[in-house]
Amino acid sequence: MSKFATGVTVITTLDPSGNPHAMTANAFTSVCLDPPTLLVCVAHNTITYGYVEARRRIGVNVLREEQEELGMYFARRPEHREGNPEYSYTFDARNVPELDGSMVFFDCEIVGAHVYGDHTIYVGEVREMKRSDEGAVPLMFYDSHWYHPGHE
Ligand SMILES: Cc1cc2nc3c(=O)[nH]c(=O)nc-3n(C[C@H](O)[C@H](O)[C@H](O)COP(=O)(O)O)c2cc1C
Repeated sequence: MSKFATGVTVITTLDPSGNPHAMTANAFTSVCLDPPTLLVCVAHNTITYGYVEARRRIGVNVLREEQEELGMYFARRPEHREGNPEYSYTFDARNVPELDGSMVFFDCEIVGAHVYGDHTIYVGEVREMKRSDEGAVPLMFYDSHWYHPGHE
């Protein structure tokens, strides 16, 4: 799988108190256009999994190359996160957190879930989409490394 180059997303959810929680994910793809639908695969040992099960709503934030530090940061559980990168959220009309600065944000309602092994495949119908991608270069992940297609 490491030889399949991907973009990088951050999945945003809310904890039981309504505080945003974020996790890096690249098991993400388009499902269909009508209705606009995507999928993400979430491991059962993540904190995010419990929050998605409870809320059935997620934000999917497509990272730009300048957000590599955030991609690394949110790839660790909160107790293992290192550094103090700056980030902020904007809540949309459905109270889904958008990670500010991302190149695309999808607000999705979970409309299907398929448990397989230690992951659940979540099918999300897009309720809102926001693009801020003018001049943006996506962050990528390939061969277990962060990759900047604009420079390498
Ligand atoms: C590039 C990259 C992609 C990842 N993709 C996924 C993914 O698609 N699904 C997943 O469950 N975990 C994925 N992870 C691992 C999670 O980001 C990691 O387990 C994180 O600590 C989970 O956070 P949480 O437990 O706070 O929810 C990925 C990690 C990296 C570095």
